[in-house]
Amino acid sequence: MCGIVGYVGDKLARDVVINGLRRLEYRGYDSAGIAVIAGGRIAGAKRAGKLANLEKALEEDPLPPATTGIGHTRWATHGAPTDENAHPHSGQSGRVAVVHNGIIENFARLRDELEAAGHNLRSETDTEVAAHLLEDAVSGGADLTTAMQQVCRRLEGAFTLVALDGEDPSRVVAARRNSPLVVGLGERENFVGSDVAAFIEHTREALELGQDQVVTITRDDVRVSDFDGRPAEGKRYHVDWDLSAAEKDGFDWFMRKEIFEQPRAVADAMLGRHDEQGRLELDEVRVSDDELREVDKIIIVGCGTAEYAGLVAKYAIEHWTRIPCEVELAHEFRYRDPILTRNTLVVAISQSGETADTLMAIRHARTQRAKVLAICNTNGSTIPRESDAVIYTHAGPEVAVASTKGFLTQLIACYLLGLYLAQVRGMKYGDEIRSIVGELEKMPAHVQRMLDDAESVYELAAELQSVRSVLFLGRHVGFPIALEGALKLKELAYLHAEGFAAGELKHGPIALIEQGLPVFCVVPPRGRDQLHAKMVSAIQEIRARGARTIVLAEEGDDEVTPYSDVRITLPVVPTLLQPLVAAVPLQLFACELATLLGHDVDQPRNLAKSVTVE
Ligand code: F6R
Repeated sequence: MCGIVGYVGDKLARDVVINGLRRLEYRGYDSAGIAVIAGGRIAGAKRAGKLANLEKALEEDPLPPATTGIGHTRWATHGAPTDENAHPHSGQSGRVAVVHNGIIENFARLRDELEAAGHNLRSETDTEVAAHLLEDAVSGGADLTTAMQQVCRRLEGAFTLVALDGEDPSRVVAARRNSPLVVGLGERENFVGSDVAAFIEHTREALELGQDQVVTITRDDVRVSDFDGRPAEGKRYHVDWDLSAAEKDGFDWFMRKEIFEQPRAVADAMLGRHDEQGRLELDEVRVSDDELREVDKIIIVGCGTAEYAGLVAKYAIEHWTRIPCEVELAHEFRYRDPILTRNTLVVAISQSGETADTLMAIRHARTQRAKVLAICNTNGSTIPRESDAVIYTHAGPEVAVASTKGFLTQLIACYLLGLYLAQVRGMKYGDEIRSIVGELEKMPAHVQRMLDDAESVYELAAELQSVRSVLFLGRHVGFPIALEGALKLKELAYLHAEGFAAGELKHGPIALIEQGLPVFCVVPPRGRDQLHAKMVSAIQEIRARGARTIVLAEEGDDEVTPYSDVRITLPVVPTLLQPLVAAVPLQLFACELATLLGHDVDQPRNLAKSVTVE
């Protein structure tokens, strides 16, 4: 939520900042703004709407040349997305400029205080109070770094703040609490950004900051301190992807590109994680084998698509390990006083590693002495940093708001975790694990096969352009895939879409079935006789009531043919692994339908990637 860029160096700050914002726009796109320091003062512009509006304004009224600047793309929390509420914000005299991500929870009290002291606040944002406080501090003689430390000590809530002092063009100062911020380390230039995409075209060397830290970047130096001014160290790391990964590469949307990257992403997620005998090696699982043997309950937490990955994982982990496994939405888990002990393993799934709801859930779990293992795609992000262990998914940057390769690689990480637990606890023989690992190894090719059939899914989307409602049915691990198919359609095509467990139909949802209603049905492999037969009956029942059935069933499954209006063929894979292939046509369908409807697939309305507020 909200994209932030800061730059000091020899280049034109406007270009560096706007390019960085373009790569971060997926984090929020309600409004955008920029500020630079030129001639001893701040110059800037901000506009409601997408970044293009700001760029147009800058063409009409260019900024003076400058080499120090900050920028912001907003996802509104306090105050509507207007020009006035867009960032950067300034204090009374306009000497400082501030951009912010997060929520300053005590802003109302601070605002009253400032107004009582004669300050005139112009926006409805919580950010503006920080700008006024910073300006007061620098006007009182503090340098911007000291001012930032002082102000942060007064703020409550979650925030990343990045500020400029018009009278000091040598530095950009930033601070973070419970909100993302990374530093980019260049040659005679340095950067700050919400994530590395902000500066990936300039450098792949980065510095990870801890909680409650302030960083001052100048052209030649980076200094980190805590909020009390004590020097601190950031953790340096090399970003293992490059600019091409952050670009569309000829695709119309990042989402489509990311869907097509899935065979590679799935392969990368497994790379180096087992030896030739199929024995799993998860080096990053820093919880000892002894502790893993003690685990008597697993609770998986996540939000949205990540939670659906958890729902699939439950079936696999319980089946392979016989450890009871619950799955819960992170925001529900956090506030219901869950029962946790030191033998509970909490698994937090998050592509971004910054989702505030999931972060709060793991913090709560750790205060209850549960062990926390993160499954995450973003190196150095807050959730893995605050967990006892992490399995990185190695999907590469996921830019589209809707998660696709993030999801498939989360599934891989969950399978690996389940198998690893089974191995450590002696629940499966080596040859059983080897055989499942062998099946997993075939998955990139199976996913590729689903992609090779994309045209037929696109044709289906073209046929269904005018529908207003779509249902998805599944059983067992097909149920979370039904939920995921529906979520993708809601968020991208803005359609009424619902996913159901097929067994639940007769308990209510079947009343929704009417003539011509499209229903996607995820059919389990035939190996699971009971499941398969029950799913086939459900399809018959809805078809008898007029549903248009779009049936995802494995190759050679002729039993469903008489009841399928449209057939999507899945490769023959073990039941537990079927989600990896069944999700793909549903992703393609949502992407294509939204494209045909003229929607912005990468930046759906009201949404933002990386939900850093609760
Ligand atoms: C849906 C989607 C969201 C995210 C959810 C969690 O396509 O992308 O539902 O899955 O916001 O995000 P992470 O995984 O970053 O914690």
